[in-house]
Amino acid sequence: MQICKTIAELKKKIKEIKNEGKTVGFVPTMGYLHEGHLSLMRQARKENDFVIISIFVNPTQFEPNEDLATYPRDLQRDVELAKSVGVELIFAPEAEEIYPENYKTIVEVIDLSQSLCGVTRPGHFKGVCTVVTKLFNIVQPDRAYFGQKDAQQVIIIRQMVKDLHIPVEVIAGPIVREADGLAMSSRNKYLKSEERQAALVLFKALTIAREAIQTGERRAELIEQIIIQMIAKEPSVIIDYVSVVSGVTLEKISHLEGQVLIALAVFIGKTRLIDNIMLEVA
Ligand code: PAJ
Repeated sequence: MQICKTIAELKKKIKEIKNEGKTVGFVPTMGYLHEGHLSLMRQARKENDFVIISIFVNPTQFEPNEDLATYPRDLQRDVELAKSVGVELIFAPEAEEIYPENYKTIVEVIDLSQSLCGVTRPGHFKGVCTVVTKLFNIVQPDRAYFGQKDAQQVIIIRQMVKDLHIPVEVIAGPIVREADGLAMSSRNKYLKSEERQAALVLFKALTIAREAIQTGERRAELIEQIIIQMIAKEPSVIIDYVSVVSGVTLEKISHLEGQVLIALAVFIGKTRLIDNIMLEVA
């Protein structure tokens, strides 16, 4: 397996691969890999001739008060994990390689970026869209894989790819959870053991919401209340948002029907966690 630190190095390799007529699957990540990332890589492995991942803690998607400096990093471990699922190439640039001093272009998907996580993180999706556009242009993948864990991110990237005519197929993989239901996240590393225990309430709340819908509840406000009340049982968990929205447009809905996204974000201590479920409601 090869590790490229520069765009020039990577482009040379990609030219070779394309010349051989191989299809390229791409999984962008910020590293500190876990089973959620690896599941996307395995899927990419199955569906493409050559798999490239990026490991880049993208500074522009962090708000000034966020955890850019402390975001967990362990390239050595990541390399071994990526190797174990058949990744052929890792692109691991330094920030200056992606953002040279004089860069002046940002990519923004309007409307979709303003709700849910965009409220607390107003610059976040601009950073994500800018870096993903850059990565798509550098890697030129046939298929790119994103996790449903970041449901809003998937919807925004799909919109961006459509609007900017980027020739890549965007594929979403399901949320991978720990055995006790906690959605895997690089940020789970921040949780102290009591916080880790309290964090279980997120999936519990989403599960009882799902059960309520299965037994006929269709009022969005009620579903939100069920979740809020469940989370309130853990006083250390502070709600950022709990939102029932269209799984297509991310718009608020009052009546559940069709593709529905139930998304939430909380703070436990300084750690911000997100989780969601996507449902098809008849
Ligand atoms: P990161 O948080 O490292 O996640 C990389 C990819 O793994 C994302 O598509 C994310 O949705 C997916 N992922 C994370 N946890 C998952 C889980 N438990 N189950 C399934 N998939 C999961 O998302 C980013 O990085 C960045 O915003 C990035 C797209 C790389 C741009 O910088």
